[in-house]
Amino acid sequence: MKNLDVFLIFLAIRIASVFLVQTYFVPDEYWQSLEVAHHQVFKYGHLTWEWSKGIRSYSPIIIVSGLFKILQLLQLDTAEILIYSPRLLQALLSAYSDLSFYKWSGTKKWAIFCIANSWFWYYTGSRTLINSLECALTTIALSKFPWPGKGIEENSIFIWIVAVIFFIRPTSALIWLPLCIYHLIINKNSVLNVVLKTYLPIGLFVFALSVLVDSLCHGSFVVTLYEFLKFNIFEDVGSFYGVQPWHWYLSTGFPAILGIQFLPFMSASTVVLKNRKVHPNELAMLGTIVFALTMYSCLPHKEFRFILSLLPLVLYISSRFLSAWSRKASRAAVWVVATVIFVGNVVPMWYLGMVHQRGTLDVMTSLRQISHKNPQQTSLLFLMPCHSTPLYSHLHINVTTRFLTCLPNLNNIDGYVDEADQFYKNPSAWLRQNYPPNGTLPSHIILFDVLEANISDILSRYKQTHEIFHTDMPATSRIGKYVLIHKRLDY
Ligand SMILES: *[C@@H]1O[C@H](CO)[C@@H](O)[C@H](O)[C@H]1NC(C)=O
Repeated sequence: MKNLDVFLIFLAIRIASVFLVQTYFVPDEYWQSLEVAHHQVFKYGHLTWEWSKGIRSYSPIIIVSGLFKILQLLQLDTAEILIYSPRLLQALLSAYSDLSFYKWSGTKKWAIFCIANSWFWYYTGSRTLINSLECALTTIALSKFPWPGKGIEENSIFIWIVAVIFFIRPTSALIWLPLCIYHLIINKNSVLNVVLKTYLPIGLFVFALSVLVDSLCHGSFVVTLYEFLKFNIFEDVGSFYGVQPWHWYLSTGFPAILGIQFLPFMSASTVVLKNRKVHPNELAMLGTIVFALTMYSCLPHKEFRFILSLLPLVLYISSRFLSAWSRKASRAAVWVVATVIFVGNVVPMWYLGMVHQRGTLDVMTSLRQISHKNPQQTSLLFLMPCHSTPLYSHLHINVTTRFLTCLPNLNNIDGYVDEADQFYKNPSAWLRQNYPPNGTLPSHIILFDVLEANISDILSRYKQTHEIFHTDMPATSRIGKYVLIHKRLDY
């Protein structure tokens, strides 16, 4: 197949995923990306503490801001276009990274099959998550890496891409450090030469550029990389967002993102380990995966998306293994294996992409309609765990909103309890304090069904207008099966 045809297949798949993946994954998809860009361009939007403390880089944000700016100038900035266009942009990049994977892999059908059919990449590949951007760029960089025996010439393109990835997502070093060491080993020039003549100048140039962008956007000189390290490593703010046991990536995270691909990957790994001399590249990739998983396991806060960028390495190894195996296997065996892998991925694609946790996005459509009909009178109160829904990026109108915040203990206050925890400890008391009887009440309250009974006092002055399905399996006791909208009786 021609590369263009392959690209069009990937493009169709990624664009389809923009519209088929309709669920809420993690807050950062909105709060660390769309909301910030919305604030930059339209001058309203909520900036979380990461932005006031300057620990996040604006470099990836300005891409979305540029898009929003163009839409604003063309007067095409409807909420729907603002929601879908950044995802389409990411889908385009992901499709290009899929093509890179295809060219890099050197196998034909199995490369297309494995990358197109990976449930977790399908689930994340069109999201406006920094991790999706990182994974796409990582795949492109891997395809430019001068792997021995692959006929890829020594080049500095991959180092440029790696430098960009590193400054937008410093933890990517856990993947790229071992690979860069491998690069220095296989390189024909002296290590010192390569480091001084390529790594250092490129790194410094990209670093300077990112400091420039961040200082301009933050409004004062800031090195986000330093602030990021300060908060995450020295002050360990990450733990505030949850601590998992050390083996979480091995027992849960890694097997879950691979899904059924775990089996061919395990078989492939055994083959690689047994025939180390024949597969030096795969061995380096395996080493990278082990190193990254080990290092990530040492960090207390763990998430599925943090190891997304390991997927291209995994799929490279297993697609080549499957390809080699299928040449010797019977037709029937190949079909059975392909069908099992296909079904094993389509089920999570469907359930997690279309069913699980969709209510907190669907509710924004209703809230958008309500807000645009009567912006002056509308004020929204979200009584849910913090950042359960997107906000202004999905409303695109400057109505009054309030949600429970969950700031980490940045000022080291003794016995600190964040606002959301205070609320959940005693909802009625929190409401009485924040909404005294003679004051004005918000026009709409948005909540999960499980909270209803605990705030019946205030709800006696409201009437339920929407009940929106969210999930069959709520992740915590604060999350319910349905999202409800209650409207004030005199609204
Ligand atoms: C949005 O609304 C807030 C509160 O009413 C107001 O302070 C702010 O200036 C508004 N921003 C814009 C850009 O209209």
